[in-house]
Amino acid sequence: MFPMGSSPWVGIVLLSLAFMALCVATEVTYDAHSLIINGEKRIIFSGSVHYPRSTVEMWPNIIQKAKDGGLDAIEIQEAGLYAILRIGPYVCAEWNYGGFPIWLHNMPGIELRTDNPIYKNEMQIFTTKIVSMAKEANLFASQGGPIILAQIENEYGNIMERTLVAQRRGPYITTSYDYDAPLDEYGNLNQPKWGHLKQLHVAIKLGEKILTNGTRTDKDLGNQVTLTTYTNANGERFCFLSNINNNQDANVDLQQDGKYIVPSWSVTILNGCNKEVFNTAKVNSQTSIMVKKSDDASPKLTWVWIPEKKKDTMQGKGSFKANQLLEQNELTFDVSDYLWYMTSVDINDTSIWSNATLHVNTMGHTILAYVNGRHVGYKFSQWGGNFTYEKQVSLKEGPNIITLLSATVGLANYGANFDKIKTGIAGGPVQLIGKNNVTIDLSTNLWSYKVGLNGEKRQLYNSQPRIGVSWRTNSSYPIGRPMTWYKASSKLLRSRPCGCRLARNGKRTSLVEEGALLELSCQGGKTITQIQFASFGNPEGKCGSFKKGTWEATDGQSTVEAACIGKSSCGFTVTKEAFGVTFSLMKVDDGVARLAIQATC
Ligand SMILES: *[C@@H]1O[C@H](CO)[C@@H](O)[C@H](O)[C@H]1NC(C)=O
Ligand SMILES: *[C@@H]1O[C@H](CO)[C@@H](O)[C@H](O)[C@H]1NC(C)=O
Ligand SMILES: *[C@@H]1O[C@H](CO)[C@@H](O)[C@H](O)[C@H]1NC(C)=O
Ligand SMILES: *[C@@H]1O[C@H](CO)[C@@H](O)[C@H](O)[C@H]1NC(C)=O
Ligand SMILES: *[C@@H]1O[C@H](CO)[C@@H](O)[C@H](O)[C@H]1NC(C)=O
Ligand SMILES: *[C@@H]1O[C@H](CO)[C@@H](O)[C@H](O)[C@H]1NC(C)=O
Repeated sequence: MFPMGSSPWVGIVLLSLAFMALCVATEVTYDAHSLIINGEKRIIFSGSVHYPRSTVEMWPNIIQKAKDGGLDAIEIQEAGLYAILRIGPYVCAEWNYGGFPIWLHNMPGIELRTDNPIYKNEMQIFTTKIVSMAKEANLFASQGGPIILAQIENEYGNIMERTLVAQRRGPYITTSYDYDAPLDEYGNLNQPKWGHLKQLHVAIKLGEKILTNGTRTDKDLGNQVTLTTYTNANGERFCFLSNINNNQDANVDLQQDGKYIVPSWSVTILNGCNKEVFNTAKVNSQTSIMVKKSDDASPKLTWVWIPEKKKDTMQGKGSFKANQLLEQNELTFDVSDYLWYMTSVDINDTSIWSNATLHVNTMGHTILAYVNGRHVGYKFSQWGGNFTYEKQVSLKEGPNIITLLSATVGLANYGANFDKIKTGIAGGPVQLIGKNNVTIDLSTNLWSYKVGLNGEKRQLYNSQPRIGVSWRTNSSYPIGRPMTWYKASSKLLRSRPCGCRLARNGKRTSLVEEGALLELSCQGGKTITQIQFASFGNPEGKCGSFKKGTWEATDGQSTVEAACIGKSSCGFTVTKEAFGVTFSLMKVDDGVARLAIQATC
């Protein structure tokens, strides 16, 4: 139905782009409607690749799949696609501290992402450096390179609401990110989204010239159905039919332009205003799930372990001291997520202090407490914010050493003033509350500080054997013992993609709407080896756990097997004849006829 990624048409475009990159400068401008590239008004579909989240070897494959999905531009530079260079450094992107280095935060007087001279000066140095590098490599379109746009900020909207206070928390930052993106973080096609977008991109591109240089009119057809028409100077038209009614399909008669069924809550794209090329309610949905399978039948991990050495911190020994409780990031400087806070308190009267409360106010994210070398407890905040930790502790006569370990789990990346959000036991207070509420405030005590764990310094995470590090191999390794390092190694697990396709026909009618094209494809040149499930009727469940419904066509499995086994992709038109469906077989009250397939490549 649409030009696909491997068509000669795409090949020609690539060739001409490559040629352009060699010798011709590209002029990029814009007007109120669109970007204008070499005088041509363009709709640019751009995708974003978080290159630090993948390895260099993965990039060509990811970019190819993005291109096959109908993109014109990618937010890194690569031949054959336009590039949008995201200079940053602020990208948000669920990246630690939004991409800023922590040392920026520690510059006196700096205010990030505002009209602040210190910040702007640092930005100027960074931006100039990156732009100069790109220029030296002739990467900008004006130099014949692929970069048509560059971006130095991201998601600025929330900054404009300065009334939002720094205390607002966004969750812990982890390394994972794909939010249901068309390509997942391993570079696999995330179906059905990838397929839907590919079709949508193709459909919209059919109207590119008219949409970017035409006039728009909206016509209310009643019952929440609207016809939007773009018309250019030559009288060429491109239309959208939308039905925002939640529960009523619409029958629309556009006279000489044809009759259309517009399902509830859907948009139909009409090329030339008289040919349906896309309908959001009729798109096929393919779901791929990755089944992780190891080469061995059962991958058994063998764990070794080693306790963190903490004699120094249990004795209150750090690397520097201060008479206050300091903010964590200002000290850890991105070197470690861990900061030790240690102090000593002299106790004279054990009748007051033998059963006291240790009270700690921390800005987060986690805290581990020791008194005189003994672990007393642990707490973390659910959303990464401030919290109070309280625990009964027994203090002895003479000096008592209080050791607190604060750890961060990724730094905030989003929101107004996110850079000012504090972490660690910044300011406290830290108090001891004894009998009759006698309170010692330790907040202005002399505190010792140490950044990081000894295990980090000893590089316990290093896979190579380290001198002086002997991992314990005792099979009954400790469970639930704080400050223990564990290590296991395994062969890389092999992923075996398993694809599912659910073709939905005649959504709200019990008649099978004929003519839907069903496509099933494997990635990486693999072929379909098994049809684990195929049912044309009213199957239930989701990919990976489909179940037969109350009725199904008799030839479902065999029809799909015949069309698909041994092929890297297969496609057929879903018709009731193809599956041997007779109307007497279908129960009218089921109201849905669909084909569900689960296949293994
Ligand atoms: C836009 O349309 C006008 C006529 O209305 C035409 O003269 C012009 O060349 C078109 N521009 C582009 C970039 O296609
Ligand atoms: C214990 O006595 C010493 C010496 O008199 C004093 O400096 C210290 O503040 C006392 N500690 C407490 C907790 O009262
Ligand atoms: C310690 O104090 C807490 C409350 O302040 C109380 O619940 C607990 O029973 C006391 N323990 C001892 C051993 O006195
Ligand atoms: C956390 O900080 C907010 C804002 O400063 C404050 O209102 C709240 O009491 C604090 N919560 C704790 C448990 O310290
Ligand atoms: C100690 O303080 C707590 C909380 O502020 C209060 O509920 C309790 O009555 C106080 N106890 C004494 C003995 O003053
Ligand atoms: C292994 O660990 C268990 C429990 O920690 C201990 O009882 C046992 O003696 C250890 N065995 C060896 C050989 O170290």
